[in-house]
Amino acid sequence: MPVIAADSGGIARAAEVLRRGGVVAFPTETVYGLGALAFTAEAVARIFEIKRRPHFDPLIVHVLDDEMLLRVVSSMPPAARALSERFWPGPLTLVLRKRAGVPDLVTAGLPTVAVRMPSHPVARALLGAAGAPLAAPSANPFGHLSPTRAEHVAGGIGGQVDLILDGGRTEHGLESTIVAIDGRPELLRAGAVEAEAIEAVVGPLDAGRVAGYRAPGMLPRHYAPATPLRLVEPAGVPMPERARAGALALCERFEGYAASRQLSVTGDLREAAARFFETLHELDALGLERIDVQPIAERGLGRAMMDRLRRAAPGDREL
Ligand code: TXA
Ligand code: MG
Repeated sequence: MPVIAADSGGIARAAEVLRRGGVVAFPTETVYGLGALAFTAEAVARIFEIKRRPHFDPLIVHVLDDEMLLRVVSSMPPAARALSERFWPGPLTLVLRKRAGVPDLVTAGLPTVAVRMPSHPVARALLGAAGAPLAAPSANPFGHLSPTRAEHVAGGIGGQVDLILDGGRTEHGLESTIVAIDGRPELLRAGAVEAEAIEAVVGPLDAGRVAGYRAPGMLPRHYAPATPLRLVEPAGVPMPERARAGALALCERFEGYAASRQLSVTGDLREAAARFFETLHELDALGLERIDVQPIAERGLGRAMMDRLRRAAPGDREL
């Protein structure tokens, strides 16, 4: 499991591995991705094996530019054009009608494909060197915390990938926002682009029009640390129950906990999002009996963080 620096030599080597049908972990501006050539079904199949990901869960295809985009999607409705002009390259994923040649494995047999044009220079250099769209989910075992550093990838699935490109910690720290464009734009997953910013471009987003499974954010348990986590007001937790537990909050610190972490001392949501998964990884490694998380106000990126916390705290009765 070589971890190599994401310099020009490393990127050239990674592109070579991809062209031969390999699987490479690489940084994006959101989280690390686990990439393979999107049009090589055998390589894509390895992504599912490595993540132990169910085949009904489709992947995001990453493209460098419009030329690559048109190899993947069959049409760009006006709302998709408007959103791509405003947010690409960047952390927004659009679900659009797919082109016939996109393997069914990538889309889980759906007539649509999720596509995004990343802004991270390493992701872009890799797409350019590979010369083809890359299918890439987050580079973590299915259902676990997403990786925001190469070390997280190495600790989770490192033994099975051909190469990890180390580009340092990711900028946004939360996955892309997913919007389906098929009729009225619909929010499938809250993420690094605030829903409010998307609505400023296309008007009110539908949320929950579709029954059943559409995105992992709709699976009840996802993004979970190994340590049990609950959403609760830590200030109300009796002292004796704090001793072997950890606390996590946007900007408050709590006495009596074995560890108390703040995502941003000034309450800045961008800083908090960037540190979100990293801080959960860190608390998860401390062998705590439990993590008590103070709920975050659901505005802007607070909504995306609360979405992930709810799925990490199944059956939570404290809220
Ligand atoms: O920021 C991100 O989006 C990162 C980086 C690596 O780009 N990727 C990521 O991928 O978070 P992943 O696989 O962890 O989440 C993508 C989700 C899938 O679980 C899937 O449910 C949804 O996107 N998705 C993909 N194709 C879809 C489709 N055709 N219709 C609805 N949802 C789709
Ligand atoms: Mg994921």
